[in-house]
Amino acid sequence: MTACIIDGKAIAAELRIKIALEVRRLAAEHRLVPGLAVILIGDNPASEIYVRNKARATRDAGMQSSVHRLSGATTQRDLLALISDLNSNAAVHGILVQLPLPPHIDAQAVIEAIEPAKDVDGFHPLNAGRLAIGLPGLVPCTPLGCIMLAKTIHPSLAGRDALVIGRSNIVGKPLAQLLLRENATVTIAHSKTKDLPAVSRRADLVFAAVGQAHMVRGAWIKPGATVIDVGINRVPGAGGKPRLAGDVAYSEAREVAGAITPVPGGVGPMTIACLLANTVRAACTIIGVSTTL
Ligand code: GUN
Repeated sequence: MTACIIDGKAIAAELRIKIALEVRRLAAEHRLVPGLAVILIGDNPASEIYVRNKARATRDAGMQSSVHRLSGATTQRDLLALISDLNSNAAVHGILVQLPLPPHIDAQAVIEAIEPAKDVDGFHPLNAGRLAIGLPGLVPCTPLGCIMLAKTIHPSLAGRDALVIGRSNIVGKPLAQLLLRENATVTIAHSKTKDLPAVSRRADLVFAAVGQAHMVRGAWIKPGATVIDVGINRVPGAGGKPRLAGDVAYSEAREVAGAITPVPGGVGPMTIACLLANTVRAACTIIGVSTTL
């Protein structure tokens, strides 16, 4: 059997059209233009590409985008001062500090400095806590995108065995919380998990978020299972030119799985679309209007 390929690019494009329509409605009915501020520190080439793509997508959706590029030598104090300015800027509804940060900056302190209502990454402990206890709040974008992709295959995840491989604060933990909210039976696996291949073979859905190219092999997948690959790893390609690879050995897994996301073109485009949706949601919550998103 060859798996159905879940086209994240197309699904994200559809969501971005819905967002753009909602942005037009908010401008017409409420004179509201959602604004996203992105802060990039240093010159990490991958971060530079991500930030450029986020800014372009924000503008394309009809929203206000600002990018604050700071030198890698910026002090934590200066960064916190910029965040404080953005927190009190009424035209800014979402603030995103691109990670990773240089080692002299305490990432947790930075995350906690962002006004929770503008925390479109959903990384602030207040938003993480609200997600954990089932209250509304801003939810991390990549896990949101993963759930949307999984639901294109299984509109209801209730009672399904879902395995999340990876326990990061950015993906693994919030994804597990979202799956619980969908009434899935959730297992979180990590580097100390015993016999991960056997654990994986029991899962109806496998979410791979470990950051290790091709770690999840075809033989780990239950026939017909849905595989969502969160990995974006740079590996040497033909002629030594770097190419992107997921956490799943794609060519093996697609022979066994029922449905699988490719890398690139799977989760990545959904992360950006969900960031735009979070920015609209944040703007609506801040000014006190409801949204269709
Ligand atoms: N770096 C890699 N992924 C992310 C993300 O989702 N948010 C931020 N802020 N930085 C990242």
